Amino acid sequence: MEQVRYITEWFGRYDGQNIDDYIKLGGFETVRQLADRGIEATVAIIAESGLQGRGGAAYPTGIKLTQAREAIGERKFVVCNADEGEPGTFKDRELLKQNIYQVIEGMIVAGICSDAKEGIIYIREEYTWQHEAINDAIRQCRDRKVLGENVLGTGYAFDIRLFSGAGAYVCGEGFALCESLEGKPGRPRTKPPFVKQAGYLRLPTLVINTETLSAIASILRKGADSFKAYGTEISTGTKVISISGKVNKPGVYEIPFGLTISEIIDGFGGGMKDGSKGYFVQIGGASGGLLPVGMWNTRYTYEGLEAVGLSVGSGAIVVADETNDLRDYLKVIGEFFLHESCGKCTPCREGNRQLHFVLNNLAAGTADAADLKRYDSIMNVMKGGSLCGSGKTEVVPFLTARKYFPEAFRLEEAN
Ligand SMILES: Cc1cc2nc3c(=O)[nH]c(=O)nc-3n(C[C@H](O)[C@H](O)[C@H](O)COP(=O)(O)O)c2cc1C
Ligand code: SF4
Repeated sequence: MEQVRYITEWFGRYDGQNIDDYIKLGGFETVRQLADRGIEATVAIIAESGLQGRGGAAYPTGIKLTQAREAIGERKFVVCNADEGEPGTFKDRELLKQNIYQVIEGMIVAGICSDAKEGIIYIREEYTWQHEAINDAIRQCRDRKVLGENVLGTGYAFDIRLFSGAGAYVCGEGFALCESLEGKPGRPRTKPPFVKQAGYLRLPTLVINTETLSAIASILRKGADSFKAYGTEISTGTKVISISGKVNKPGVYEIPFGLTISEIIDGFGGGMKDGSKGYFVQIGGASGGLLPVGMWNTRYTYEGLEAVGLSVGSGAIVVADETNDLRDYLKVIGEFFLHESCGKCTPCREGNRQLHFVLNNLAAGTADAADLKRYDSIMNVMKGGSLCGSGKTEVVPFLTARKYFPEAFRLEEAN
């Protein structure tokens, strides 16, 4: 199956680093067009395209830009969220590596549209190898007056700097990211006020995913209808996904929304590894739901996945085959969240600790009925009582496992 080349259209068309090559392809034209077209008309195109944020929450980007513009503050910020801390997710690093200028173009547009003059690329610590390339791209932009006091002669001011986090999963969450930017431990804050009103330095901050920014530039270049030509009425456009696990061709692919999970695994992942038999997929990262092989005819759309209790999330698809043990898999996920819980709220901090005991017993085959009761109760408390999306959504793999894989929760006779 052929990849769609919409957001990734210019991958391989230049080396990804030379600004003049990017400009020759038509790069930064959308910024000039914005100056002629006006902000409202520009945001209207994004809204019309139906683009939803690709960081996980799927918030409509058009509305987000409008709200960012309406936010009041003496300084405003656009933060490109390149934290990409969800296990199994590695698509943003490709967007940065293969076409950093398109991300920057999206940031400039988002900055002008939201009246922000300062941009920050927030990158996870593990992506240190990209620092030099990103800083070099920013330098080239300044040299060509693409960034600075008078962006491309449009009269708008916008500049960008790079910030590297210390490598914590929760730092991808808007408030934790802002705290991290301020030099503090990455911990979420209570809402309201929201990040858009009082984020970094308690000033209006537009935290937006790397892929969303790349999509903004592509959509403005090609028009809302060209984006809507892909996908479904609710899930418009394309999605950049990362497939890993038991497939022959793990990697990053741009696909149209609407394919089934089987079509994605066979058409892009190259089929099950060495012809093995599928068992389940986890969709959307470690906090994503599990779907058994019998349901791989589910369509990869926001609405299709929601109907079975899952979500698109970060765009990760991790594939497991029959040699994988679901109980071990759940234990590993539990260990991840236990390690990554920032400890600020009790349901997540203590819930993960208790869950850890239960998952250990389950994996060891020593779980009893009380453990299962505890499992269900922890899920309820974490889902309803956690302060941020981490604790609230990490229950999804455990809940979908309980729903779709009763065999994993069957107790041994002696227990
Ligand atoms: C625990 C946690 C981790 C997150 N990690 C990321 C991340 O690595 N990258 C990202 O873009 N969004 C992440 N998000 C979502 C962001 O909070 C935010 O919704 C997103 O960056 C907004 O951008 P979008 O509108 O383009 O999706 C995370 C959320 C939570 C709760
Ligand atoms: S849910 Fe977890 S990660 Fe989020 S604030 Fe509470 S303890 Fe921290």
